[in-house]
Amino acid sequence: MLRDRFLNLNDFEVAARRRLPKSVYSYIASAVEDGRSLKMNREAFDRYALLTRVMVNVSQVSTEVELFGQRFAAPIGVAPMGLAALSSYRGDLVLARAASACNVPVVMSGSSLIPLEEVMEAVPGTWFQAYLPGDQAQIDALMSRVRSAGTKTLVITVDTPAVGNREADRRAGFSAPLRPGPRLAWQGGTRPRWLTEVLLRTLLRHGMPHFENNYAQRGAPILSRNVLRDFSDRRHLNWDHLRTIRRQWRGALIVKGILHPLDARTAREIGVDGIVISNHGGRQLDGAVPPLRMLPRVMEEAGELPVLVDSGIRRGTDVVKLLSLGARAVLIGRPFGFAAAMAGQPGVEHAIRLIWSELSRNMQMMGVTRLADLGPEFLVDMDR
Ligand code: GLV
Repeated sequence: MLRDRFLNLNDFEVAARRRLPKSVYSYIASAVEDGRSLKMNREAFDRYALLTRVMVNVSQVSTEVELFGQRFAAPIGVAPMGLAALSSYRGDLVLARAASACNVPVVMSGSSLIPLEEVMEAVPGTWFQAYLPGDQAQIDALMSRVRSAGTKTLVITVDTPAVGNREADRRAGFSAPLRPGPRLAWQGGTRPRWLTEVLLRTLLRHGMPHFENNYAQRGAPILSRNVLRDFSDRRHLNWDHLRTIRRQWRGALIVKGILHPLDARTAREIGVDGIVISNHGGRQLDGAVPPLRMLPRVMEEAGELPVLVDSGIRRGTDVVKLLSLGARAVLIGRPFGFAAAMAGQPGVEHAIRLIWSELSRNMQMMGVTRLADLGPEFLVDMDR
């Protein structure tokens, strides 16, 4: 039973490690270089202790939140995760359907193996996260495709001007595309459930998966001996591209991967609808500051702009702390990826409900009935 086996978000990773081939597990779990940001992301939450109020009638607690014109049941969304369809069958659809069933936001990654159009048709409110080449003509082509797919909320990731140095992935034999060979065959052969339920089922029913959504055109296959993907075009991406996109894109526009308060200011001045403070879950620059730490200063620049946060959130209390510091909502990645790998859509729904119920329970113990009531007065800064 899911309910007895997975009691919190960390439990999925432990189980998925035994279910997934080493390289596929590594792609989800790993971080860059020495894992400093990954570790700091978790530890950053310890800076704050929670200051409760008591004797408040908390018989009715609402975790509802409004984001970009949509009402959601909880301020906890599914972060974009690349290659979701490699760790669970039709992974992007699994994540989108689970989030939709729980009425929380879900962001589909641009580094995905199912065409955006299919996911948008199945789950129309899905947000799409694009990785953009710094080339206006290519951006325009991708934008026009994203628009035609019916996307209403677009997230542009801006913290990948270079590829993160993922040594752990290389040691585990992961590359994108994956290179077929004895090592991969061994890894797959020793994970028979994944082999039959994910890989073979995908190959038989849908053919070889390709990177579908990095550009307007289809990209490389996921398995290939000799393809090298080149992301050097991302180095050119700059604020002028975002200005142009803002002029052309009428839907909600969110910039993800901001840490510096002045970057938050620039994004606001350009007229984006929201930002995501993030160090990419410790997967880009090792040592990049945890978003929680920057949140108070970013809030000073963000004004009314909704601020979302990701990177290291695993508990309802983490959500309480971020919302107390001004975040409107959070995104969580890896645990939902592992939950999909373990139990598909019911697994992800269970994971969402786990942290959601932690949040409700925590709110009751904090003495708040609405998210908007949270504020810095509920936190004690233990560093002071
Ligand atoms: C993709 O965004 C990744 O971090 O692997």
